[in-house]
Amino acid sequence: MHQFFRYSFIIISLVLSIQVVAQPEKNKRLICATCTINPYKYVQVKSDTFQKASVSSAHPLASLVGAAIMKQGGNAFDAAIATQLALAVVYSGAGNLGGGGFLLARTHQQQLIALDYREKAPARAHRDMYLDKDGNAIEQLSKLGHLAAGVPGTIAGIDATLPYAKLPLKILIQPAIDLAKYGFVLTEREANNLNDSRAAFEQYNTQPTAFVKPTSWKAGDTLVQPELAATLERIQRWGAKGFYEGTTADFIVAEMQRGKGIITHNDLKNYKAAVRTPLVFNYRNHTIIGFPPPSSGGILTAQMLGMLERYPLRKYGFHNVKAVQLIIEAERRAYADRAEHMGDADFYPVPTQMLIDPRYLQQRWRNYDSTKATPSNTISAGKQSTFTVSEETTHISIIDADGTMVSITTTLNGNYGSKTVVGGAGFLLNNEMDDFSVKPGVANMYGAVGGVANAIAPNKRMLSSMTPTLVLKDNQPYLVVGTPGGTTIPTSVLQTLINIIDFDMSAAEAINAPKFHHQWLPDVVYVEKNVAPSLIEHLQAMGYSITPRGNIGRTEVIRVLPYGKRETAADIRGDDSVAGF
Ligand code: GLY
Repeated sequence: MHQFFRYSFIIISLVLSIQVVAQPEKNKRLICATCTINPYKYVQVKSDTFQKASVSSAHPLASLVGAAIMKQGGNAFDAAIATQLALAVVYSGAGNLGGGGFLLARTHQQQLIALDYREKAPARAHRDMYLDKDGNAIEQLSKLGHLAAGVPGTIAGIDATLPYAKLPLKILIQPAIDLAKYGFVLTEREANNLNDSRAAFEQYNTQPTAFVKPTSWKAGDTLVQPELAATLERIQRWGAKGFYEGTTADFIVAEMQRGKGIITHNDLKNYKAAVRTPLVFNYRNHTIIGFPPPSSGGILTAQMLGMLERYPLRKYGFHNVKAVQLIIEAERRAYADRAEHMGDADFYPVPTQMLIDPRYLQQRWRNYDSTKATPSNTISAGKQSTFTVSEETTHISIIDADGTMVSITTTLNGNYGSKTVVGGAGFLLNNEMDDFSVKPGVANMYGAVGGVANAIAPNKRMLSSMTPTLVLKDNQPYLVVGTPGGTTIPTSVLQTLINIIDFDMSAAEAINAPKFHHQWLPDVVYVEKNVAPSLIEHLQAMGYSITPRGNIGRTEVIRVLPYGKRETAADIRGDDSVAGF
């Protein structure tokens, strides 16, 4: 970083840190006019059963905000807006204004809604923008810093959600403004995350940010974000124009110019959320509602469940080797299709109907061998790749008192996205450009490969794995499900659905059970550390290569119980928490 910025960083960080110490004493205030949320003292609630309405999200304060909004008359869409905005403040690693997401809903009048506010490639993007003169991918360019950012979609998504909400944005955004302006205390996990990214924040920012202070963060410190509060106030005043035009847009474009990024005023002004047609299919007498392209999640879930449905998984039992092998082989075949066939359907003819057709799935299953692993190179061609575990997307599951269900997955892509904060505006930019295939056969940060279907093109949306999902039983609301986790998202959702539908687990048991993941390439089975050693030995004997890894997903589920109670669970792998009434 330039010396001048390094010194300003330190001076402004000192000022911020003085504020940080002063805030808790000065502002022992609660957010929301009519609710009692204390941002300086809160606890995680991992699961609970509520009578009417509930929220499960990655942060206790965000879930409390969503539940409070429903209690003061809002519906599930109001809660969706308020919870997302609160997450943008209290969960900086993935909650966002500078990213994008998908919202999937079923209203109590049975209307299905799929809002796509995935980021887009800027107009100046082109297929080879991350390649050097010899045509080799330039490591990190699509992952960190200004050029990694796609045009953000989150605020356009919130704008597209507002017609379904009951309360005005002015009210829905206020908790987020208060949390940013007066601060909230950090959990240990969040303090550690900020410390771990400190060097990257210093490297990829041109101006000081609230995320860096002279000393390390620790649990109980208060994070105050005045620039983010001012951005939220502009959105409160002007709506989406407060982000895509005027001062905030000027800040974004100035940031791009300082850091050699390519997002322009026109890119911002032209960004629009899209309305998609949800993917609806059946699994063992349940109706599953999934998200279509540019998510790969709905198709992958339909393919994997389609391949598995003919097998009596319940009879085999949870983590029985037969059941696990079937799931791995279904994952392998579906992910091979992802690499070849999936991308933004506005730009590439994704053969959705073919991919989920039972006859096609039967064909894909032809070389399945119940005694051994099917090598990935016999399924389709591709190159080996590495796999990393930075998967900072986040999911919110909501149900309201009328039975409207909302499932939202939203993302910056990596942990704190591109690590670049928009100077003056206080929010992080995504590094979603890495979800494109920067070159056929070259792996992205999740080890996923792709080809022409997901090649970069101006204004195109990059392929996503986000899998917000809804399930109906007897045409009544049953499950609201979703998770972060990069390419592991569809397999986490799949295993959660199977844990509930086939293995009769409760919502909490289903999400907290150990998970595994196969994505065709690399040809390995990733397993969480608590997967039973005996299962691993069995799989190895069948020829599977096993790689232990960290957590898979942070899944949030709501299950509607027989008399309408909302069994609500938040993943134990993070600070996730539920709230409701
Ligand atoms: N950035 C993760 C995804 O969209 O799949």
